[in-house]
Amino acid sequence: MPVDTARAPDLSFDDLDPRYRAFIADYIGLYGLDADAFCRPLPGADEMFFKAILPNYEQDASIAAFKFTEATLRHYDTVRQIVDGALGGFEKLGSFLDFASGYGRLTRIMLQKLRPDQIHVADIYKDAVDWQRQAFGVAGTYSTPDPAELRHEARHDLVFVGSLFSHLPADLFHRWLATLHGLLKPGGVLAFSVHDESFLPEGEAMDASGIRYFRFSESGSLDADIYGMSYVSEAFVADAIARLPGRPSWRRFHKGAYENQDLYVVGAPGKDVSGVFVASTPMGGFETAAGLTNGAVEFSGWALERTPGKRLTRLSVQAGARTLLEVSPHCERPDVLTHFPKVANAPIGWRFRLGPDLVRPGEVIRLRMDSDSGLFGCAYAEFPPPVAMTYAGWSRRALRAG
Ligand SMILES: C[S@@+](CC[C@H](N)C(=O)[O-])C[C@H]1O[C@@H](n2cnc3c(N)ncnc32)[C@H](O)[C@@H]1O
Repeated sequence: MPVDTARAPDLSFDDLDPRYRAFIADYIGLYGLDADAFCRPLPGADEMFFKAILPNYEQDASIAAFKFTEATLRHYDTVRQIVDGALGGFEKLGSFLDFASGYGRLTRIMLQKLRPDQIHVADIYKDAVDWQRQAFGVAGTYSTPDPAELRHEARHDLVFVGSLFSHLPADLFHRWLATLHGLLKPGGVLAFSVHDESFLPEGEAMDASGIRYFRFSESGSLDADIYGMSYVSEAFVADAIARLPGRPSWRRFHKGAYENQDLYVVGAPGKDVSGVFVASTPMGGFETAAGLTNGAVEFSGWALERTPGKRLTRLSVQAGARTLLEVSPHCERPDVLTHFPKVANAPIGWRFRLGPDLVRPGEVIRLRMDSDSGLFGCAYAEFPPPVAMTYAGWSRRALRAG
């Protein structure tokens, strides 16, 4: 692996803007998780954070760290629903493998649910595996470019593969699928994410084979023969799964992982996964905060339930344990759809006013979006302006200004 001479220094959460640190701690706390345990430094060699997330947010480490946290909590929502739906809960989960774990954002949470010896990580980046072994005490395996060379003896109840198949060419897609499915214990489950064909860049066409591969990626060091950007049809994935031993039971969840990836859940031979349901975490963000003459502030933004058949049941404005306001949708936001191709539900706009009678200066304001899927998402701002806000888009700026 070539040495990356442009390695960033490690990023400590202590160095972030305290307002974003407060947002991060609040969000983690709502999940019943320990923020201090989660907020260990981000190693400078982590390409996913320093070369993908950070540049997307104009090198603003505070908002990037918030987005990192938010994405990890959504990732955890996905894993938790699989663990509950397919395996009967974390107490029944004996062994977990996060394959292509990178520097282990998920490990920061899994360590709060399982013992370190129940958690295995694997990545082609030896540094990422070494770092996690050392920082988290988990078991680590060095992966290989060719699945035939993988040496991994342990077997697992859940093998989770976030954002690797979304980067594989056809041959490796089939061979990694067979290899990783072969790492399941009886009754186990493999879950992996892909870019569905609906995310194919504009102007590009799918290949008749059902997979389209592009020889570029966010990685500064992985060979484009083994890691690029791929887009697949459901028929392609269904055929790949049908080639596995025992013609396993499987389910697909549109946008079930990350902001733009579909999730496939596949059972070990004989394991029925038809009862598993994975909803997507509600998303939304603040966009504007306008000071009014009476000292009040008008905030506005958007919200979206992405899960087909589910809807947002409640939007509430909260500060700590206090609910300050209930908010009704103010309008539809078709412009938001540009960022969410083929989303199942219409995005909504919201707006509310807060004054000093309800909230103290410097307090963290949380807009909580509850869905009838049982999941919730939060967006954050502080009071009064000039405020820090979280946008939940792909840029540091609002999806729509003004
Ligand atoms: C987009 S990142 C996702 C990381 C992690 N799953 C997450 O969501 O934060 C893709 C990861 O796949 C790893 N990877 C690429 N090829 C691999 C292989 N052949 N075996 C294992 N990991 C691989 C990369 O090193 C990188 O860490």
